[in-house]
Amino acid sequence: MIGGSDRVEEAGAILRAGGLVAFPTETVYGLGADARSARAVGRIFLAKGRPADHPLIVHLGDVSWLERWAVGVGKDARLLAEAFWPGALTLILHRAPGVPDEVTGGRETVGLRVPAQPIALALLNAFGDGIAAPSANRFGRVSPTRAEDVLADLGDRVDLVLDGGPCQVGVESTILDLTADVPQVLRPGGVDADALEAVLGRAILRTATGPSRAPGMLTAHYAPQAVVEVVAFEHVVVRAAQLLEQGLRVGVMSSSNLTIPGVAGLGSFTTSRDYARELYACLREADRRELQVVLAVPPPATGIGVAVSDRLRRAASSFSLEDEEDAT
Ligand code: TXA
Ligand code: MG
Repeated sequence: MIGGSDRVEEAGAILRAGGLVAFPTETVYGLGADARSARAVGRIFLAKGRPADHPLIVHLGDVSWLERWAVGVGKDARLLAEAFWPGALTLILHRAPGVPDEVTGGRETVGLRVPAQPIALALLNAFGDGIAAPSANRFGRVSPTRAEDVLADLGDRVDLVLDGGPCQVGVESTILDLTADVPQVLRPGGVDADALEAVLGRAILRTATGPSRAPGMLTAHYAPQAVVEVVAFEHVVVRAAQLLEQGLRVGVMSSSNLTIPGVAGLGSFTTSRDYARELYACLREADRRELQVVLAVPPPATGIGVAVSDRLRRAASSFSLEDEEDAT
């Protein structure tokens, strides 16, 4: 079932009854359930085919809901929430009593964010409490940025899909862990590290290392069926020629204008924002066109280009040393 903003009240009722509602956010579509209900949250894992120890982000309708879900909310969290919510930033904080283990994967921390998307906010307000939601894709697949992507992946496993059109940011939220001494980015995303540091007024850890990295955020993630190769602009023509010579069906996506005869143009993007917004749709398109290899020239690694490059790298990893933790 698919519907628009006119079905938000109905969607709230589905959530109260323990059902699953897929909804748009500014980053990617989420697969939502009542975050207070272990049973409802359990259905998310079943629908996605995702390992049960991977924690979920709880979406809030307003910054004032923070205390219902987290304890010891400090100055950093307040500053960041004030600056970036609603928006593509997830804060990892100490969980409040009563947050189900099914949401946190048994951790003492919880990931929280207020999404910047009108239908998402209307749904949260109709429901009235936190909605646990991972990206609305099957485990291991590319995140959905359009309602039809959700239907293709989860169709009959979800009670209602709210259609808000294409997602405006296109890559997932930045995850920032505020529970350690120094704030640490666990996943680059829609809000870049420079912006976080500007608000905090000090340096943060920009890459996820050590035990606190986000489970499910390792390699071999966000991958289409096609093999993805990350290639520098100056090498892409030669590499394409080699692949075409082998008789392979090849596509290319790039941050600059690029047409290669015999190679399917999946997208060339003048800004990293555009690249981010179209990235997952392009990877899905590669599969629809049954391409075998996607050559991806990454955008400059600044701003949201950091998140795009991160996702391209993950899409390009064909194997992982820690497979069991992959691909939320
Ligand atoms: O933009 C987004 O964040 C989207 C939209 C729907 O909000 N959601 C999303 O959810 O990307 P998901 O489940 O696909 O990825 C959530 C990530 C996972 O890698 C998980 O490990 C991490 O957040 N995470 C959630 N709670 C955490 C916690 N308490 N500690 C560490 N990592 C956590
Ligand atoms: Mg995901």
